[in-house]
Amino acid sequence: MEKIHHLIKAEQLTPPIIGWIFQKAEEFEKKLQQKAGSLENLKGATVCSLFYEESTRTRFSFERAVYNLGGTVISTENAAQFSAANKGESLEHTIKIISGAGLPHGRYADIIILRHPETGAAQKAALVSKVPVINAGDGSGEHPSQALLDAYTFKKLLGRLEKFNICFVGDLKFSRVIGSDAILLSQYPGIKMFFVSPKGFGIKDELRSSLQKKNIAFEETDDIKKVIEKSDIGYIVRVQKNRVADQALLEEYRQNKDNFAVTEEVYRMSEKRGTFFCHPMPVDEREKEIRPEVENLPRIKMFEQAGYGIPVRMALLDLIWQNQKI
Ligand code: CP
Repeated sequence: MEKIHHLIKAEQLTPPIIGWIFQKAEEFEKKLQQKAGSLENLKGATVCSLFYEESTRTRFSFERAVYNLGGTVISTENAAQFSAANKGESLEHTIKIISGAGLPHGRYADIIILRHPETGAAQKAALVSKVPVINAGDGSGEHPSQALLDAYTFKKLLGRLEKFNICFVGDLKFSRVIGSDAILLSQYPGIKMFFVSPKGFGIKDELRSSLQKKNIAFEETDDIKKVIEKSDIGYIVRVQKNRVADQALLEEYRQNKDNFAVTEEVYRMSEKRGTFFCHPMPVDEREKEIRPEVENLPRIKMFEQAGYGIPVRMALLDLIWQNQKI
């Protein structure tokens, strides 16, 4: 199995690495269920949780994963405001300081978990970092640890990570999760993807050509109702209004938003197939892309999905820390 040092993109997550992480995550899940005492896999490790953008799930699940493994966390509530970035420091300088670029025994942290609003920021950080950097979401770029926990969820729900149909629904242009999920899944046989998006929010050209090159079966359309009866997983994402400049596109989305939501009708339509619905969250409560009247029904799995963030991120940290120590 290849070694992972930095985790920047989903394409680094090959099937042997994914297999190892899933097996380890299963072991950790059992230990968590049995409340089996303290683990020491990260004993002696300090992890810097460096978030320049808001987060509930990624940050807290990574931090909890570190504590579960006996490591320690250093952090700031909001790196954009409370780190020296607010005094004009470059990301590169911040990363060099935290990773001990000048003095190895003066390093502040052994692993850096970075969320940043700029696409490519994680790669930029990795280029100067002396310790592993985990991309916890960079602009509309990538979110590889989310792709891992999503794939873990699909495997739990379907009993396999091959030969199934998935529809990705919503703002596919600005979602960093969709690209990471599609790239990760494209390594497994027999996966058909449907991409359902409002006008102006379709998949990036880069993803389209990557899937075409790999001969992955996919279709693009504009209404979840056209594909839901053929989908084993419905994966919904919110529209990222903060990244949209064209207000007319947002207005058009709002007028047609039932086409990109799990409504009672969509849930009923998917009954026969037994489609499971996932969402990386947050759900935008103004647009309600998962409608409140369905969110607690049995095939809506977003809360379980978020829970898998803990064992999966424990396994990922364990792997990266093991590799770091070799
Ligand atoms: N799924 C996800 O990245 O959620 P947060 O923004 O809350 O971390």
